[in-house]
Amino acid sequence: MDIKRILSEKIAIEGISPDEIYALMTTSASSDLGDYSLPCFRFAKVLKTAPNKIAENLVASFDGCEIVKKAEAVNGYLNIFVDTSKIAGEILADARRADYGKSDEGNGKTICIDYSSINIAKPFHIGHLGTTAIGSSLYKLFKNLGYEVVGINHLGDWGTQFGKLIVAYDLWGDKEKIEKGGVEALQEIYVRFHREEENNPALTEDARKWFAKIEQGDKRALELFHWFKDITLAEVQKIYDRLNVKFDSYNGESFYNDKMAPMLEELDRKGLIKESDGAKIVDLQEYGMPPCLLVKADGATLYATRDLAAAFYRKKTYDFYKSLYVVAYQQNLHFKQLFKVLELMGCDWAKDCVHVAYGMVSLAEGSMSTRKGNVVWLKSVLDKAVEKAYGIIEEKSPDIEDKQAVAEKIGVGAVIFSALQNARIKDITFSLDKVLNFDGETCPYLQYTVARTNSVISKAGNSINARIMPDYSALDNDESRELIKLINGYPDIIRDAAEKYEPSLLSKYLIDLAQAYNKFYFENRILDEDLTKMLPRLYVTDATNKILKNGLSLLGIDAPEKM
Ligand code: ARG
Repeated sequence: MDIKRILSEKIAIEGISPDEIYALMTTSASSDLGDYSLPCFRFAKVLKTAPNKIAENLVASFDGCEIVKKAEAVNGYLNIFVDTSKIAGEILADARRADYGKSDEGNGKTICIDYSSINIAKPFHIGHLGTTAIGSSLYKLFKNLGYEVVGINHLGDWGTQFGKLIVAYDLWGDKEKIEKGGVEALQEIYVRFHREEENNPALTEDARKWFAKIEQGDKRALELFHWFKDITLAEVQKIYDRLNVKFDSYNGESFYNDKMAPMLEELDRKGLIKESDGAKIVDLQEYGMPPCLLVKADGATLYATRDLAAAFYRKKTYDFYKSLYVVAYQQNLHFKQLFKVLELMGCDWAKDCVHVAYGMVSLAEGSMSTRKGNVVWLKSVLDKAVEKAYGIIEEKSPDIEDKQAVAEKIGVGAVIFSALQNARIKDITFSLDKVLNFDGETCPYLQYTVARTNSVISKAGNSINARIMPDYSALDNDESRELIKLINGYPDIIRDAAEKYEPSLLSKYLIDLAQAYNKFYFENRILDEDLTKMLPRLYVTDATNKILKNGLSLLGIDAPEKM
């Protein structure tokens, strides 16, 4: 229910449209300032009256308005206190419907989301958690708003590292060992290559030759290349399944091999290519950026060249409304350059390309790096989280059924949530103890609240369907009002989280909702009441339960039935 709409329509100010009033009205930052607030400064000129006087005059607008408890003028603001218990019936009926929070506003529009985009034959390490979790959540959020969404895993499957891997494999590789050991085994020989290359430049030269063979389509080179790719993909698929992550396209860098030449020609035709020491660049000095290097002196193309081709391909194939790139902020410059080149080429859709940047993850126990081989694999973080969750369940609820499945949901959920909990641009320090603290602002806390609401609902049995008139005065207290207000705000939160590409808004909301519910739960008798009072409280419980489950699913997280 759009309470703000109802309130703003009660206010009439000469010369100001209802829509303007609606746009100016905000939700209050703290409860002593009411629930909604209208700043009156803008009207002072038109009305030739001091802002606070205007606010005072507007107080009477709500005379006889059932949902307004009181209105106050404070320092030029009109603060409005709403009594949600008066409209609780309607809000709760809405919130308990299966499609609550869904919308069709995105119908007919396509959003491409490039996320996870792992590198083949390299570890799927904790640094890729952010892009995977944020991208996947945005995917679900936009789908929920009716958009057509294309999830793209822009695989890092091109580059000289494949030449290095072939050389390393021929020297020290063992087919069986690699088939068994997977990416970790590949990583081992890759790291060894880097170590030995330092004293043996011939190795580097060999690697270059092998990569050239891949480019020329040499049979054995391609076979090995595809083998490395298959090994990596089979392994990451298992992780994606655990994380509830899906893609519609795995077109990675190699897919664009034959799509760069036409684009380079077009750049040339438009006079944008410059030669610099034999390399082809787009000069971006005028825009305060280093040049965008597209072709090296030896003819090799680059990451940026393939991204340019990919941007065109996506526009042509999906005719996107927005094209998002969920990539760490280390690549800020890369995307600024990329979008600028598109703009210079005259693509008016360059403005629809968005770099959704996110911060770094470090581990509380120490940091990580790929080259030196001391990487933190995402799989092992997930396994450790699940193991720890298992231990906690054994201690807290030893009688629960299917502990392993419950521990998997709690452990994996905690890791996903850690990447979605804070504004995405922030760097985070990951600690297992912190994310698995059942009493903190964590995923287990949310899941625990789901289990609590499940249990209330199941204990109530069929009462929730009773066909009697509920007595909504049972919700006439602060904890209930706060909770209903939050419940009513869910659809706005989803829209906001999607529009700002910020799943953390949803995460924070869910924590607020769970906290508000738990307060409500401790302050109100739910089950041992007479049915007319019990019903509204059951409705509140049911609405909370549905929103928590739905919200978690939009973050890619499952909640166990019991905990
Ligand atoms: N594979 C790259 C990396 O791990 C990320 C690719 C992001 N997507 C893109 N279109 N550039 O750093």
